[in-house]
Formats: sequence, C-alpha cells, structure tokens
Amino acid sequence: MKRALITGVTGQDGSYLCELLLEKGYEVHGIVRRASTETFDRINHLSGKIHLHQADLLDQLSIIDVMKECNPDEVYNLAAQSFVPTSWKQPVLTGEFTAIGVTRMLEAIRLLGKDRIRFYQASSSEMYGKVQAVPQTESTPFYPRSPYGVAKLYGHWITINYRESYNMFCCSGILFNHESERRGREFVTRKVSDGVARIKLGLSKELRLGNLDAKRDWGHAADYVRAMWLMLQQDQPDDYVVATGETHTVQRLVEVAFGAVDLDWKKHVVIDPQFVRPAEVDLLIGDPAKAKAKLGWEPKISFEQMVERMVKADLARLKSGDTSDTKARGI
Ligand code: NAP
Ligand code: GDD
Repeated sequence: MKRALITGVTGQDGSYLCELLLEKGYEVHGIVRRASTETFDRINHLSGKIHLHQADLLDQLSIIDVMKECNPDEVYNLAAQSFVPTSWKQPVLTGEFTAIGVTRMLEAIRLLGKDRIRFYQASSSEMYGKVQAVPQTESTPFYPRSPYGVAKLYGHWITINYRESYNMFCCSGILFNHESERRGREFVTRKVSDGVARIKLGLSKELRLGNLDAKRDWGHAADYVRAMWLMLQQDQPDDYVVATGETHTVQRLVEVAFGAVDLDWKKHVVIDPQFVRPAEVDLLIGDPAKAKAKLGWEPKISFEQMVERMVKADLARLKSGDTSDTKARGI
C-alpha cells in the first residue's frame, strides 16, 4: 500500500485529492495547522479514513517530525495562502507560506528520503500574470502581478532547482483556476454561485463584484487533482500546464450563474471598487497539450456544467438552513 502526505488537506484541492487517493488504495496522511476554530468542513466526511498530523509550513521541525512519522512515498504540497487580494495585505506572510514553505518541504524530503519520496508542488497560472504569450504553455515566460504570484514563482523554481541539484523526483503542476462546490467563498466563482442562490431565495438583493472583464481558464477541481496524481506516476519528473484551453470573462460566469436560475444579472450585479485589484491579471488561457500527450489527462466537467453544479449546491445548502454570510469578512 502506497502512503501519501498532503499539506493543505483541509482546502478545496486537499479534500478532492484525499478522495482520489483513498479510491486508489493509498494510506492518506494530512498536515493540519492548529487553530482555535477548526476548519475541517471539507474533510469531515473522511474522518477515520485519513490520518491527520499537526504541523505548520512555517515550522521546519514540525514538517520533519511528520515526515518521519508517516514515511510517505508521495508528498503533495498544496498548502498556501492562496487568495490573491490577501497577498497585498499580508505580503510577508504570503511569502513565508507560499514561497519559503516549499523549501521547508523540500529540505525535509532531502533529509529523510531524497531518493525515494516523490514531490508535487502546487504551482499556479498566476505566475504568467501579464501574459507574454497566448495561450500559455510550460515554456511561456512568467510575469507575476501579485505578491502571491511572485511567491508561487519562487516555489516553482525551487522545485525545479531541487530536481536538478539533488536529482530528486519533483514535479511542478502549473494549474489554471479550478473551482467546485467546495471552493472558498471569497473566490469569484463561489462568491457568484452563493450570491445568485441568495438572491433567488430572497435572502439578498444584490451581488457586489470588481472587474467583470478579466478572463480566466476555469476547470473543476475534481478533474485537476487527477492530473496531480498522474504527474507522480510517470517515469521522469517534469512540469505540466493543467488547463481546459478555454477562457471566459467574469461577466460570462455571471451570465451563466444567473441564467441557471432564470434571473437577469443586470438587475442585481453592482460594481464595487473595493473588489478591484491594485494590479490585475487580464487574461489566462492554458494549453494543456503536454498533459494530454504525456499524462493522458483531459478535463471531464465543462465550464457551464461546473457553474450550474455550484449554483445548485449553494441553493441546497441555503435551503437546508446554513445561511452563514461572508460579508463581515469584507469579501
Ligand atoms: P485553499 O482551499 O485555500 O487551501 C489552502 C490550504 O493550505 C488549506 O488547507 C490551509 O489550511 C493550508 N495552509 C495555509 N497556510 C498553511 C500553513 N502555514 N501551514 C499548513 N497549512 C497551511 O486552496 P486550494 O484552492 O485547495 O489550492 C491548493 C493549492 O493549489 C494552493 O497552494 C493554491 O495556491 C494552489 N493553486 C490553486 C488553484 C485554484 O484555482 N484552486 C490554481 C493554481 C494553484 P487552513 O484550513 O488551516 O487554512
Ligand atoms: N475574488 C473576487 N471577488 N474576484 C473578483 C471579483 C470579486 O468580487 N470581481 C471580479 N473578480 C475577478 C478578479 O479580479 C480576477 O480577475 C478574477 O475575478 C478571478 O479571481 P479569483 O476567483 O479570486 O481567482 P484568482 O484568479 O485571483 O486566483 C485563483 O486562481 C489562481 C490560478 O490562476 C486562486 O485560486 C489562486 O490561488 C490560483 O493560483
């Protein structure tokens, strides 16, 4: 039985990856950080099936201790401060988690299992930022536009550097935006699906958003975790773009989401400058040709299906009585 260790196991991708690895017969271990309020909602249904360990990407020895305890074959580094606007508010902390945290993971592996443990780094299309080519491939130059993007670029290159310096099996997955019913409610897809469901049920009248012209290549997280796993099953470590190859504006997202419940978005969407970013990434569209050719990976869930699923899930959640709001957090 293979053993996997996942950082960021309480996050969107962590929860889907746990499910995939359990299905494949893995013993699954996850790193969680201590908080006064637990954030295990996405993995509560897996309780008893996965092993959780307390550690923090800020604390090198805690990572080494967990790595010793669970002795993994594969390590998936998904933990990060992952919300782009927060990276301008907390740039130093974002660098500590999202950039230097990767080195801490790699150092623990170098110390304990450099020739044996396979490593996946969650890199991001945010690294392309002000894009230098359309569509973006593995060889497109990077031009990050946020402290988050800059931190992810460090994580990407340090992963490649450990592969080249120490001959370690390290892969960097350059994943484009991927969403789901489990997406955090501060990200635009979920903010929209939650907002639409609230308006439909009469709990709210308007949805306040920032830039509707930005374009993203949006896929479903359940498809994208499959690509992570596939990267670690290859003979050689490598880096891959994971994307759908389609792009849509935020406005299109809004149209599909409101359309799913027969509402006219123009009557409800209000542009609010507080959600406009200091520097924007205008256009992302990935070319997944390498992932398709080498990993045999293709997305199965379309953009429209995903948005409709998200709206339906939020309607069901709100109808069940969970109407907790996120406005207090200013998102
Ligand atoms: P997410 O839902 O925000 O989850 C982030 C996870 O990181 C959470 O489990 C969080 O734990 C954990 N974490 C944060 N700081 C930590 C620390 N110091 N020590 C230990 N754990 C820490 O993110 P996601 O959407 O699943 O994304 C997973 C990864 O892929 C992230 O690295 C993200 O940057 C990257 N990525 C995401 C996308 C996307 O579109 N989703 C695209 C490209 C790359 P708590 O629950 O304790 O906060
Ligand atoms: N969050 C948010 N809230 N975004 C808005 C809003 C709003 O009210 N209005 C417009 N947008 C626009 C943003 O300006 C951005 O252009 C786009 O919607 C997507 O924003 P997010 O959903 O917050 O995602 P992101 O693209 O900034 O970052 C996500 O994808 C990256 C991969 O490209 C995150 O998951 C990152 O962790 C990930 O690396």
